[in-house]
Amino acid sequence: MHKSFAFFAIVLITFLAPACNEKKQKGQPEKTTGTTSCQEPHRPQFHFSPKEKWMNDPNGMFFYDGEYHLFYQYYPDSTVWGPMHWGHAVSTDLTHWTHLPIALYPDSLGYIFSGSAVVDWNNTSGFGKDGAPPLVAIFTYHDAVAAEAGRTDYQYQGIAYSTDKGRNWTKYADNPVVPNTEDLRDFRDPKVFWHVASEQWIMALAVYDHVAIWGSSDLKHWNHLSDFGKTWGAHSGVWECPDLFPMPVEGTGDTKWVLLLSINPGGPFGGSATQYFVGNFDGKQFTLDQSFSSTVSAENAVWLDRGRDNYAGVTWSDIPKTDGRRLFLGWMGNWDYAQVVPTDAWRSAMTLPRTLTLHQTADSYRLFAQPVPELKALRATSHTIKPANISGMLDLTEQIGCSPAQLELVLDFETPNDGAADFGVELSNGRGEYYRIGYDAGAGQFYSDRSKSGDLRFSEKFAGEMPVAARMSTNKTIRMHLFFDAASAELFADDGDVVMTEIFFPTEDFNQLKIYSKNGNVQLVQGEAYGLKSIWRE
Ligand code: FRU
Repeated sequence: MHKSFAFFAIVLITFLAPACNEKKQKGQPEKTTGTTSCQEPHRPQFHFSPKEKWMNDPNGMFFYDGEYHLFYQYYPDSTVWGPMHWGHAVSTDLTHWTHLPIALYPDSLGYIFSGSAVVDWNNTSGFGKDGAPPLVAIFTYHDAVAAEAGRTDYQYQGIAYSTDKGRNWTKYADNPVVPNTEDLRDFRDPKVFWHVASEQWIMALAVYDHVAIWGSSDLKHWNHLSDFGKTWGAHSGVWECPDLFPMPVEGTGDTKWVLLLSINPGGPFGGSATQYFVGNFDGKQFTLDQSFSSTVSAENAVWLDRGRDNYAGVTWSDIPKTDGRRLFLGWMGNWDYAQVVPTDAWRSAMTLPRTLTLHQTADSYRLFAQPVPELKALRATSHTIKPANISGMLDLTEQIGCSPAQLELVLDFETPNDGAADFGVELSNGRGEYYRIGYDAGAGQFYSDRSKSGDLRFSEKFAGEMPVAARMSTNKTIRMHLFFDAASAELFADDGDVVMTEIFFPTEDFNQLKIYSKNGNVQLVQGEAYGLKSIWRE
């Protein structure tokens, strides 16, 4: 179902069932019953997913007092998109999640769309209590009734705060804090951070075809400072979910600013995708780095992930300086088909948490992503794969001694004499369904092929155009670091230079693992296979 249709259906429901919404506004406990087994077909075992019902974007991620907070767009009454709430979970290790009650319910100002949250260390907002810093969430209100009535000013920004480690949230009495005074139809997804140099809060806001930057001293009063992006990057969809942050450039003493920006539709292989820009920020304006501006144009974007299922991702705020990582999480879905994927109790999962790093390359800068090392704690079995020269198929199913359905693989390949082999990893089942993720040395591209991966009927767009990603590294060894989790694959190639995230739905679990090589042979130099534990059963 298309989102706009969902908007309409939901408005009807809002009119027909006011009592139900009324109850939720008063802060009733969430409806999640916990009766699902979390072992259903396609259920991720080590990715975050809601126990039941619909989820989309990650929201409000911050770290405070030993806990990583994750909020998310949530509709507790259905497995399709609807009136948005903020679901909530916390983790102490980015791997295991404690599911908490819903943090924010829709109210008379609207649904609670995407946004961010910060620790207000200096109590600039005045919401603090007993000397502890308040936690402040900044989100978009979406007034579905106004939207349906044909108004254009139906999105505006509100705030809420917590003084008990994020367990209870109070909406600010003077919301909205950023009203929609210019009739901007798409005016949403505020991402806020404290800008040390200019000593103010900065908000990056998605406004249809650009990012607006706003400033504030107290999170309650905001000034519009500048705009970026109308003439840069991909524009064949709406701009959503920005994130602006500084990053050290690896191996140099430099710092650059990175702007993440999700767009839907208009991704390189259809539907939703996230592009990024590298530049400078002076407390007022984001400007593209000169070298980066030559790699990007109104037609040409630089994409964070070359797969089809990593959207609306942003980074955690308030990671302690002693840690210093830039930690990212995305929604493992795509608006082209997310609402019709064949799962029953719940819909959607998040990507694995990733560490982003910025690297200088021959012509400009590139973001690399790597799975966080905390995930190593999930390794239950470990098996060293024997080196092999592969031409055709090498069946590893017996050798690895664990289920390919929950698997981490680290494989180093070399193509003899720079051959043109097309090789990679195949997951398959007894029904002839298979998924392949590999590298075509002739074309110089990684790819993900889900065209025979099982159930494809739910959406014509799902099989779609096969995503490819040009290899940038000139290293002789091609490293493929892979995670498979029932219905998803994540590839981190060449230490995270190329990343692909894809979902698929075999009608029976994939239970065979093979390495294939076509058009020549490939040398598997070394490999490790780790069977991964479930985060539900521990
Ligand atoms: C991105 C998005 C956001 C919006 C939210 C609504 O997937 O469309 O722009 O805030 O989802 O659920």
